[in-house]
Amino acid sequence: MIVAETRAQLHEALGHDSRSARAGAGSVTLVPTMGALHIGHGQLLDVAARRRGVLVVSIFVNPLQFAAGEDLARYPRSLEADLALCRERGVEVVFAPPYAEMYPTGDPQVSVDPGPLGSILEGASRPGHFRGVLTVVTKLLGLVRPDAAVFGEKDYQQLVLVSRLVDDLCLPVEVVAAPTVRADDGMALSSRNRYLDTTQRRAAAALSRALSAGRAAGTAGPRAVLAAARDVLRAEPAVAVDYLSLRSPELGEPAAPGPGRLLVAATVGATRLIDNVAVELGAETGTRQEPCR
Ligand code: PAF
Repeated sequence: MIVAETRAQLHEALGHDSRSARAGAGSVTLVPTMGALHIGHGQLLDVAARRRGVLVVSIFVNPLQFAAGEDLARYPRSLEADLALCRERGVEVVFAPPYAEMYPTGDPQVSVDPGPLGSILEGASRPGHFRGVLTVVTKLLGLVRPDAAVFGEKDYQQLVLVSRLVDDLCLPVEVVAAPTVRADDGMALSSRNRYLDTTQRRAAAALSRALSAGRAAGTAGPRAVLAAARDVLRAEPAVAVDYLSLRSPELGEPAAPGPGRLLVAATVGATRLIDNVAVELGAETGTRQEPCR
């Protein structure tokens, strides 16, 4: 496994500058990460590995996607363990650049505007977050030049926005979605779960329980979905809900009957958690119309 810390090392590892090395080795699949790898990332790697070709993982905690006061400084960093996991999983190239390699002239003057989808849900609570995400993803795609890039459904809005980025800006890469990995109690795996103590961890499982309750109520229509999920969240006082929102799969207004996406964000202690599930919506049964947020 090659660990590249500079652009030059990355290009050499991928044979970008010559016709030799891995240039002829088939397609390249990128799994972009911020490190602190866990079983959920293992799932991204599994999905990527099924595509064959060269498997590249990037590890970079991107300051641009953290607002002032967020957890940039304490975001978990575990490079040695991350490299061991990548090695175990057959990753061929890890790109782990320092800040100055990604942003040689400091924070960029040109960045990617995520458009209206970037200011709802996560974007409403974390202004600038998706501008930072899409900017670094664009840079990583430009540096690695992959044929495909894998993103987890756990960060559903990110997945939708990256797909929009690729479509709207005609980037030559396929966006591949990997399903969320859950613990035995249903909680979605996330690097931020390690901030939670035992009591908070127990309370946090209410998020996935709420989503399951919402999904189970799907056939009764959108209002029933939201009511079922809300009941579960209300029963857990340690969970401070930021939003519970039912959307279309593209994050527009949900249409019933049809497929929808139920998304939740909440704070437990000082830790902000997000989760989402697909919901199959039946036709609305009542007459009262409520916004789905
Ligand atoms: O999902 C993440 O880990 C990050 O947002 C990403 C896509 C690696 C960009 O920094």
